[in-house]
Amino acid sequence: MNYRHAYHAGNFADMMKHGLLLAILRHLQRKPAGFCVLDTHSGCGTYDLGSSEALKTGEWKDGIGRLLAIEETPGPLADYATIVREYGAPARYPGSPAIVASLQRPQDRLICCELHPEDAATLRRSFDGQRQVSVHHRDGYAALKAFLPPRDLKRGLVLIDPPFERGDEFEALARAIVASRTIFPMGIVAAWYPVKHRAPVRAFHDALRSSGLRDIVDCSLTLRPPTDPARLNGCGLIVAGPPWRFEEEASGFLAALLPLLPADAGADWAVTRIVEE
Ligand SMILES: C[S@@+](CC[C@H](N)C(=O)[O-])C[C@H]1O[C@@H](n2cnc3c(N)ncnc32)[C@H](O)[C@@H]1O
Repeated sequence: MNYRHAYHAGNFADMMKHGLLLAILRHLQRKPAGFCVLDTHSGCGTYDLGSSEALKTGEWKDGIGRLLAIEETPGPLADYATIVREYGAPARYPGSPAIVASLQRPQDRLICCELHPEDAATLRRSFDGQRQVSVHHRDGYAALKAFLPPRDLKRGLVLIDPPFERGDEFEALARAIVASRTIFPMGIVAAWYPVKHRAPVRAFHDALRSSGLRDIVDCSLTLRPPTDPARLNGCGLIVAGPPWRFEEEASGFLAALLPLLPADAGADWAVTRIVEE
């Protein structure tokens, strides 16, 4: 396990994933009944963007740094910008578990899984004493069967955000999306993936289309045409069982985000329904 999110926290991919995560959480919060979030690949939870790791790549400066620097935040980014600022960025920058936990109501629950021993220990310390959050040092894919459907709560979200270190990660991710929706049909599933070049993304979408699952939306953001497979040219988020009006909200968010980023000619975003309801 070489991947450490501390080097990449706050980059454009985090912004895309967390902004859309927030849109889903806001939807879940509209009803008083509690909901459960299972975050299968949680990372450390909180990051210091002034750390040697974050400064070594400097990725956050071309990501969240740009949003923190502007005075007039575009409307569709305002909620996300407020969450990140109020959490204390850049010194305390929230990862996915921190964003979920910062919005939790007494009736909601968060289950975090993280396989890296140091990051799991950091995450556990950060939620020490918070009874609504549980942290597990274990494989997030295997955790799907252990924790779904959530005990006592009928609604929820499964966030799957793997590091893409394994050669078969796209296949594992497609299986995990299908398993999550099969075991927990009432749950929304959000799954992040990198866009380096087109062929693996096409195969991933084809696997989802032929899986038999219904109701799948794909969101993508590319900073340049994905022709150099050695670079992270963009990223995507599959949302299975999306909330009402999610496509509209996601489109507004991505349309406002792209002009902030260091994008080449040919940069683009899209929100596409890849399988009908
Ligand atoms: C992209 S990072 C997660 C970032 C986090 N979701 C966020 O948005 O703040 C991926 C994380 O998955 C962890 N990881 C890798 N393989 C895993 C596995 N099989 N199960 C759980 N965690 C894993 C890595 O150590 C890393 O911290």
